[in-house]
Amino acid sequence: MPIAQFAVFGHPISHSLSPRIHQAFAQQFGIELEYRAVDAAPADFAEAVRRFFASGGRGANVTLPHKAAAFALADQRSAAATRAGSANVLTRLPDGELAAHNTDGAGMVRDITERHDLDLRGHTALLLGAGGAAHGVAWNLLDAGVETLTIVNRSPEAADVLADAIGDPARAHTRYWDDLAHIGSYDLIVNATSAGVLGVALQLPFSLIGARALCYDLSYGSAAGSFLAWAKAASARYAVDGLGMLVETAADAFELWHGRRPETEPVYQSLRQQAA
Ligand code: ATR
Repeated sequence: MPIAQFAVFGHPISHSLSPRIHQAFAQQFGIELEYRAVDAAPADFAEAVRRFFASGGRGANVTLPHKAAAFALADQRSAAATRAGSANVLTRLPDGELAAHNTDGAGMVRDITERHDLDLRGHTALLLGAGGAAHGVAWNLLDAGVETLTIVNRSPEAADVLADAIGDPARAHTRYWDDLAHIGSYDLIVNATSAGVLGVALQLPFSLIGARALCYDLSYGSAAGSFLAWAKAASARYAVDGLGMLVETAADAFELWHGRRPETEPVYQSLRQQAA
């Protein structure tokens, strides 16, 4: 039987940890697979995906900037992908159709509640950003039981679009970015902006950070550096990057493709040690 083919599509993609994570999961079960990183510019993405699946690809992860395009080109869409309007997993079904799924929000919540052992129920959450990444996690935070979700975005219109899509005004509402210094403090602050990836440091007031606050950046590595430095400077109780979320989202994709649930902790620990 030919070796099963998997891939991650992104732009840029050369530093992606996904090939290592999936190979480490596969080793836990003695599964042989090929998993490569495919750099596709936005104009080439749809064709690159088509070629990959036409030549026998079984499943693909999708990362920046292609998650909305992946959602758009799929034949079928899971509920999680539909509400986020984006997909980080594409799977070829036996009939040849492509199914889109989004594991980002579930991965983030599992990282927070299981790896970091923090209960989100009854907590106040501030979501910075209202783009694709924010859409990928907003509903999961509400599902996990946060008391309120305050969405703040540089352009207020995008925050309103997300809050309207959620449609739960008693719990999910917006505030203006310019008012960040005056909106009080939060138990959970999630950085879902792309500022760090773009090399820009957000100017955030320390007053946002509540007494036992968890500050969580959806990115990892240097992209998360300035947000986590801000959180530590403000004495946040926890300052966490998205490395654990990445491993958890990969585990969900792996289970979807292979029907087996991998152990995430040893893979996370090994990546964490190498990043130190
Ligand atoms: P992603 O898929 O990473 O979410 P995106 O959909 O382009 O990428 O969204 C980027 C998000 O980061 C947006 O919320 C954007 O705010 P705007 O809607 O105002 O553009 C936010 N963002 C990017 N750079 C930012 C900066 N320097 N300060 C504040 N927000 C920023």
